[in-house]
Amino acid sequence: MKIIVTGGSGFLGHHLIQALVKAGHEVKNIDLKANPEFPTVIADVRNTDKMLKEISEAQVVFHLASLIEAGESVEKPTRYIDYNVNGTLSILEAMRVNGIKTFIFSSSAAIYGEPKSVPIKEDDRALPINPYGMTKLAMEGLLSSYVKAHGFTGIALRYFNLYGPEEHHEPETHAMPRFIKQIYEGQEVTVWGDGKHLRDYVYVDDIVRAHLLALDLAKKEPQKYHYFNLSTEKPASVLEIVNLIEKTIGKKAKIKHFPERPGDPRVLYASAQKAKEVLGWQAQVSLEEGVRKTVEYFVKDWHKQSN
Ligand SMILES: NC(=O)c1ccc[n+]([C@@H]2O[C@H](COP(=O)([O-])OP(=O)(O)OC[C@H]3O[C@@H](n4cnc5c(N)ncnc54)[C@H](O)[C@@H]3O)[C@@H](O)[C@H]2O)c1
Repeated sequence: MKIIVTGGSGFLGHHLIQALVKAGHEVKNIDLKANPEFPTVIADVRNTDKMLKEISEAQVVFHLASLIEAGESVEKPTRYIDYNVNGTLSILEAMRVNGIKTFIFSSSAAIYGEPKSVPIKEDDRALPINPYGMTKLAMEGLLSSYVKAHGFTGIALRYFNLYGPEEHHEPETHAMPRFIKQIYEGQEVTVWGDGKHLRDYVYVDDIVRAHLLALDLAKKEPQKYHYFNLSTEKPASVLEIVNLIEKTIGKKAKIKHFPERPGDPRVLYASAQKAKEVLGWQAQVSLEEGVRKTVEYFVKDWHKQSN
């Protein structure tokens, strides 16, 4: 199939492109920056004229391009709405004009805000607590309206805490790569609150597999709006993660506790029952295995850089 991936030079996009190519698909990556291992059209998804040309041959679009920092979105809400909401609208419009109808995109646990109860189910209240989450919810709303109005097939994949090898964000605010670096280098490990907050960590290969299954679902059940939690259903605390990294690296963490962050829910995890029943997806990689593979990648990468 001819597939467009937007944001394919980022952490997840990089893994997704590899899997799509391996499965025999013809992929075009559109991103603001280059993917060192895959040809990239350097372009901004908000540029609809450019998108009209660049996506014209495609059958499916995987839309990953987005600004992704919840904290930063509080400081720069206008920028987040522009990149994420206008960016999505631009792609949807370019698809509509070109008659391309299948859109699969990266939504997020952030749409739920502070859940009333856990495990979170897809039809629970969605009330974001930061502009980033709001943009993801708005992106879902745009997509569902294109499904209704223009016969699109839309699939929103709501990832929980995604982690794995090759995660490089600048600045790195995500817990897993930050902890690995801090423990490896003997720096203080910053933990907000008592470290007993529970989160749902999903390994990148599991998330990638869900995208391939989404392609099948789009064929089987077209012209519908589908939305799924992608979660392990097995929450782990920040301290458990630190402990697993300590064991893998063989070094003790110097934990420094900072005050709890306002609006940081104690427990955040989801039911993946719907993904299991409709998408045929279930997380397969255990936290122990995922952390081990992630640590091994980073340690090898740092060795390579220092030699
Ligand atoms: N990493 C997580 O834990 C997580 C959790 C839930 C959802 N998500 C979502 O998954 C997707 C991928 O996340 P990631 O961790 O790979 O992020 P990432 O920052 O590594 O990748 C995003 C990519 O999008 C590109 N991009 C941003 N704005 C663009 C624009 N206007 N035009 C073209 N390209 C643009 C960036 O250059 C970057 O390469 C994002 O949509 C993110 O919101 C991530």
